[in-house]
Amino acid sequence: MTPRMITLARNNANKLETSNVMLKRGHIEQIPQEETTVDLVISNGVIALSEWKHMAFSEIYRVLKPGGRFVISDVVTTSLLPESVRDQTGQWVECVAGAALKSDYLSMIESAGFTDVEILEERSGPEGHEEWRSLLTSLTIRAFKRAQ
Ligand SMILES: C[S@@+](CC[C@H](N)C(=O)[O-])C[C@H]1O[C@@H](n2cnc3c(N)ncnc32)[C@H](O)[C@@H]1O
Repeated sequence: MTPRMITLARNNANKLETSNVMLKRGHIEQIPQEETTVDLVISNGVIALSEWKHMAFSEIYRVLKPGGRFVISDVVTTSLLPESVRDQTGQWVECVAGAALKSDYLSMIESAGFTDVEILEERSGPEGHEEWRSLLTSLTIRAFKRAQ
């Protein structure tokens, strides 16, 4: 993520005359937010790009309030992608090369402490002509931090 993205988002927030938007730049593995301060975390196509997905889930858990939840959409794989694909920088940018195995992805969520993990939507894709693309699945997952 770049400072220009934050500037664009800030300009859009200004255009909408919002008074409840605060933008922070940071890494998902080290979220610049106090612990237990957040009701809901949403994310689309970011964690698949992280090499340290377990840290991202731990961080989401840390910032959520007890009873808080996340709703995350991401690309996962149903079996291991060919090494040639995992090594391609271009496929990292497409969120494909870093995609975790679905079972590993769900295990990382549970290991971080989340409960009531539910797949809200699952669909094949993103599409393309290469055979290995049939291994890709788009998930939308919701999970909760246990209420105290
Ligand atoms: C596929 S885009 C998705 C963007 C947006 N969520 C959307 O739905 O349009 C992935 C975004 O994740 C950001 N990103 C990649 N690795 C990250 C990390 N470790 N921490 C935070 N953001 C990251 C990238 O800069 C990029 O903006």
